Amino acid sequence: MGVALATMDAAEIARRKAETVRLWGEWTAHNIHLAEDIYTIGPDREADKLRRIVQIVSDLAQKPVEHLRILDLGCLEGGYAIELARHGAEVMAIEGRRANLEKVRFVKEVLGLSNLDLLQDDVRNLDPAIHGHFDVVLCLGLLYHLDAPDVFSFVHQIAAGCHGFAIFDTYVGVQNIQRFEYRGREYWGRLIREHLPQSSMEERLKSRWASLDNPNSVWIAHNSLYNLLSDAGFTSAYECNLPTELSKPGDRFTIVAMKGKTQSLLAMPRANRNAMGRLPKDTHRPYSRKQQFWPVAQERLTNLVPLTWRRSIKRSLPGFSARTRSSV
Ligand SMILES: C[S@@+](CC[C@H](N)C(=O)[O-])C[C@H]1O[C@@H](n2cnc3c(N)ncnc32)[C@H](O)[C@@H]1O
Repeated sequence: MGVALATMDAAEIARRKAETVRLWGEWTAHNIHLAEDIYTIGPDREADKLRRIVQIVSDLAQKPVEHLRILDLGCLEGGYAIELARHGAEVMAIEGRRANLEKVRFVKEVLGLSNLDLLQDDVRNLDPAIHGHFDVVLCLGLLYHLDAPDVFSFVHQIAAGCHGFAIFDTYVGVQNIQRFEYRGREYWGRLIREHLPQSSMEERLKSRWASLDNPNSVWIAHNSLYNLLSDAGFTSAYECNLPTELSKPGDRFTIVAMKGKTQSLLAMPRANRNAMGRLPKDTHRPYSRKQQFWPVAQERLTNLVPLTWRRSIKRSLPGFSARTRSSV
């Protein structure tokens, strides 16, 4: 690990930071230690999401972090891209708002991160033919800012440019309110308002965390998101709960989607026709009987009757001998 620390002295960093704030506004989310007592925001901020993402990258990557090529989409103030670049990865960060990207540029310069490549662009232009391929793609806090059909094509483009895994940290739509179709596949979700329809582009750009221009975005439902990952070419996907993020809302998930090789089953060739399976619109999975009230109560009541009584009651039931003969 280890890319050069501050290339300027503390007084110069403080002066340049004040100038960046004057031109582009205060940092809104990503807290980064720059030197001595200088942070982009301050010393008392939590970093649970950053810890989770860095740990996932380190645990799941097939190579050491310093050999990885990582893409951070919608990087905001660059907290994730900068951290991973400081760990030695080759990082490309794409962000649509100049006011956000200028802050990343400032920190990149302060920390001397020549392995961090910054692009101001719309992530909907993502194209492996232009941007290349990546071991790890970060799509954090971004998917739920895109509208249909862009959100669907975007996930396909992420899969096309990823040969390791992608991390999606995203809200999901609850209640399957709207139906969408993309490349003949059905997905469910709901539309969420991002900007007032009558707002100007200038007003939209001022909301530093929001969609760039689209007034609505699609929040894809949980099961549909997994189906979309599968349709896009990911071969398995997992939800991360550790390291913890205790303040995460119940409709937000960190999902890791792996881009592996689809495996064929030798024991059951018929199962290879639909290797990935498809989740239904809703999942209602009953609890096991051991945790259901009536089956447990019935078992406990039965156990109150001595075993010898139960056996003789069973024997006296009509059809008992026929049943025992036919059972294996
Ligand atoms: C909620 S913030 C999340 C930022 C960061 N990835 C994180 O997880 O903290 C969403 C970011 O995506 C950017 N963004 C939204 N839509 C974009 C688009 N179409 N192209 C590029 N950037 C976009 C916003 O400017 C903002 O910086």
